[in-house]
Amino acid sequence: MISDRLLAEFDSIVRNYPVRRSALIPILLTTQEHLGYLSDESIAAIARYLNLPAIDVYEVVTFYSMLRRHPVGKHHIQVCTNISCLLLGGEEIFERVSKRLGIKEGETTSDGQFSLAEVECLGACCNAPAMQVNYTYYNDLTAEKVDQILQALQKPEER
Ligand code: FES
Repeated sequence: MISDRLLAEFDSIVRNYPVRRSALIPILLTTQEHLGYLSDESIAAIARYLNLPAIDVYEVVTFYSMLRRHPVGKHHIQVCTNISCLLLGGEEIFERVSKRLGIKEGETTSDGQFSLAEVECLGACCNAPAMQVNYTYYNDLTAEKVDQILQALQKPEER
């Protein structure tokens, strides 16, 4: 469900572009930030809002791995296993995260805290292997670094 508040944000985003459809990706990202993922209902509403066929919106949503079709955990971990990361241990990093959290590709822990995805290049090849947790990048990963990162994320938040 697209709230009035979210629609107001759409209006503000659209004003930044000379062509309405150019606002599609910012609108998708904003919707995802508010709702956690892009449901069929959201996609239909965005298509109506931008006067686009729904298939145009689906094509964009399914092309970019940063756009999600399903809910993810509070900490969404994306581990790169593309060539630079692969050569420097990306698959081992993925396995380490998977084993420590007890989840596989595309899964979320039962407490909803962590989800795991194997992704293509994160654009951090110079510091491979790399992973991203929500919007934070972690580079030059080792098994020890992964353990430290996960341990820090598992700590209860201080109030
Ligand atoms: S190949 Fe992993 S960040 Fe580019």
